[in-house]
Amino acid sequence: MIRMFLDCDTGIDDSVALLYLLARRDVDVVGIASTAGNVPVDVVTANNLAWLELCGRTDVPVHVGSPVPLVAELMTTEDTHGPLGVGYAELPVATAGPSTTDAADAWIEAAATHPGELIGVVTGPLTSLATAIRRDPALPGRLARLVIMGGAFHVHGNTTPTSEWNIAVDPEAAAEVFAACGSEGVGAPIVCPLDLTESVALTPDHLVRLAAAAGSEPVECPDPTDEPGLRSVADNEVIRHLIDALRFYLEFHHAHDEGYLAHLHDPFAVMVALAPDIVETVPARVDVELVGRLTRGMTVADERSMTGEPNARIATSTDVEAVLDDLIETIGGFAKSVAQSGNPGIVTGGGIDPVH
Ligand code: BDR
Ligand code: CA
Repeated sequence: MIRMFLDCDTGIDDSVALLYLLARRDVDVVGIASTAGNVPVDVVTANNLAWLELCGRTDVPVHVGSPVPLVAELMTTEDTHGPLGVGYAELPVATAGPSTTDAADAWIEAAATHPGELIGVVTGPLTSLATAIRRDPALPGRLARLVIMGGAFHVHGNTTPTSEWNIAVDPEAAAEVFAACGSEGVGAPIVCPLDLTESVALTPDHLVRLAAAAGSEPVECPDPTDEPGLRSVADNEVIRHLIDALRFYLEFHHAHDEGYLAHLHDPFAVMVALAPDIVETVPARVDVELVGRLTRGMTVADERSMTGEPNARIATSTDVEAVLDDLIETIGGFAKSVAQSGNPGIVTGGGIDPVH
């Protein structure tokens, strides 16, 4: 089993990332850290618990992070992810509650329990991980791999002209995590920046294929001419909620002149975490601008070792269609198994067999 710890700010694309991990039968999701970002931390936690319960995976502990970044005031982005962070979806409220272990301690415990084995992936701000490293500086050295969705190096930011959301929410935390990764014996994290994640674009035809893979009916194809907020009537519950969530994301990107599509930043990052060979990377020393009047939150990559040795590997290219094919087949098959068994996590210990 691949031991995985997910730190997220769920979030529409975080939701897809979580479903992908649950779908992978070869992955043991050791824990989930809820970090404030797209929505406040209690909403992130509720979303994580709701998805888990919907998928029959209440065995996965959810850990609550700080309600605020290390230094900055919290900003959230309901205009991007919907009032509850899951677009138009209205997930059933989970009956289970979160763990009493907070998100930072959960990072530390998970890494200590699986030394050299745990893969950590962060798809939200780095607040919880930075807090964990403050409490236990040896933590990064205990991970088998760390993958971070964040940063914008050679493209515009999506939060300010120069900053990407996950870094912009908590720049100090990001800076501390990158600094901690520069030391001896600590593997450089793989960073999945906007430069690449914006190419992983889900379009309505992908949703058609997803519903078909799940055996969900009717097969719906969201269209830009649809009334905004049109709700799914899919008979498969996971697919219905996913379409309701992703329709919001399609409309958001459309309204911002990106096309009627949805950038799947976070699912891509978890896929990289599981299969780093799907990306090419360049080594770089990454740091975060903390004081710039216009550039606070900007990620700066020194790709020529002018300021020190590399502390990150920046993902630069991938086979986008292969990524989307895997995502559709894996989540589609999982949604089908959830509908068939009602409780796949407890019955099978996971999702479906991986397709690679
Ligand atoms: C990141 O920002 C969030 O809104 C998404 O969930 C993703 O993690 C992309 O910049
Ligand atoms: Ca996210």
